[in-house]
Amino acid sequence: MTGGGSMKEMEHEVRRLLVARGREWPAPIRWLQSVGSTNDLLKKRAREGAPEWSVVVAERQTGGRGRGGRSWLSPAGNLYLSVLLRPRLPPDTAGVLPLAVGVAAAEAAGEWGVDVRLKWPNDLLARDRKLGGMLLEASAGAEGLETVVVGIGVNLALDPAVVPPALQATLTSVKAESGRDPGVAAAAATVLDRLAVWYDALARDGPSSALAAWRARSVPWWGRAVEARSGDAVLRGVARGLDGRGALILDLDDGSQRTVLSGEVRELRLES
Ligand code: BTN
Repeated sequence: MTGGGSMKEMEHEVRRLLVARGREWPAPIRWLQSVGSTNDLLKKRAREGAPEWSVVVAERQTGGRGRGGRSWLSPAGNLYLSVLLRPRLPPDTAGVLPLAVGVAAAEAAGEWGVDVRLKWPNDLLARDRKLGGMLLEASAGAEGLETVVVGIGVNLALDPAVVPPALQATLTSVKAESGRDPGVAAAAATVLDRLAVWYDALARDGPSSALAAWRARSVPWWGRAVEARSGDAVLRGVARGLDGRGALILDLDDGSQRTVLSGEVRELRLES
């Protein structure tokens, strides 16, 4: 089944596909035809006490959100999924969670025939175009980190007619890269399975295996000039790698070295 079933049928289909991968999903999976943002709905559910690993999948979003306050184009046919975590991880390990989520999504796309590179912290790129992205939203209480809503969007098959002209050259989809479209239910099951694998690896091994897997899939820009934005700060320097917490290491022009724990980064290409 690739779509067109009732919401309940689609929820069962995702569960069935997970079981076929050897995984009994431990929490509710909600499938919706349309929602503002799967992250917003799941954050609301989290405040109401939803269990860890609760999932929301939507066929389309009317207010899909990206990182940095941007909107996320969300027509039907792509994956829009959010998962609720209540991480019990030491702070340095929890800091690597965004990278582990990127690795999980990249591995899923690999199963659909796409060679994905990760751009720090967790953009999914194929041939330098954006295939997908992740928005992790955390809430903290007196005890520290309480919930993390992991939102994942992957372009499975983008209809050029619905992509604004300004974005055409910057986006790609699984279908455009590999000629295959796994369908939303199979895509959701694959991403959820890989996410559970990498969350378990983080809890068991700490950051080391997720960092190694991330580095192995990184865009090859070490030694190149980049611009990093973190909050209001803009830093220009040469990207050197990741430290043990998953922070980006930059050599600045003044000879100092800085690490950036969260933010956005882009390569500075010299005009020729
Ligand atoms: C990015 O800017 O790269 C992150 C995009 C994250 C999009 C996903 S789609 C599912 C979830 N719901 C949202 O509103 N955003 C995330």
